[in-house]
Amino acid sequence: MNQSGIRFEHPSVGDAKSLFRMAACNDDLDLCPEYFYLVWSRDFRNTSLMAKSGNKLFGYILAYIRPDGKTLFLWQIAVDPDVRSYGLGFALVKRLIDSLGENVRAFEATIDISNDAAYNTLIPAYS
Ligand SMILES: CC(C)(COP(=O)(O)OP(=O)(O)OC[C@H]1O[C@@H](n2cnc3c(N)ncnc32)[C@H](O)[C@@H]1OP(=O)(O)O)[C@@H](O)C(=O)NCCC(=O)NCCS
Repeated sequence: MNQSGIRFEHPSVGDAKSLFRMAACNDDLDLCPEYFYLVWSRDFRNTSLMAKSGNKLFGYILAYIRPDGKTLFLWQIAVDPDVRSYGLGFALVKRLIDSLGENVRAFEATIDISNDAAYNTLIPAYS
């Protein structure tokens, strides 16, 4: 997959349904109610990012800054199964962290020990 047609943007409340649908298609993710994605897209949009082409969502990362003011906590990342292993997951993490600049000094996430894809995406992207 060529990433040149992909644009990266922060979610807004109108994206909640697409985020919810993508999460629902993912057995590896805990599914929250659609309302959760709506509130998240309103309150944590600046620390979250989507990868889209046209109106189609290809991936997203949802994160927030912890109360310590310097740790970015990753809640969820997902990439459409049809476009995995093309670097989109890595690009989402890297772009989000780069956009936050000096505000982020640490990165926190909980990953299932068997989730090699998440390990291989998250650790190099923050290194
Ligand atoms: C984790 C996830 C977002 C990665 O997205 P992706 O776009 O496929 O990742 P990338 O293409 O950027 O790959 C990044 C690295 O991970 C590696 N990787 C990707 N899929 C892998 C897999 N199934 N097993 C092992 N390594 C994998 C890639 O080879 C790449 O490493 P490299 O640069 O050394 O080649 C995607 O697999 C996904 O949506 N998984 C389901 C949801 C999930 O588990 N989220 C994490 C918990 S919140």
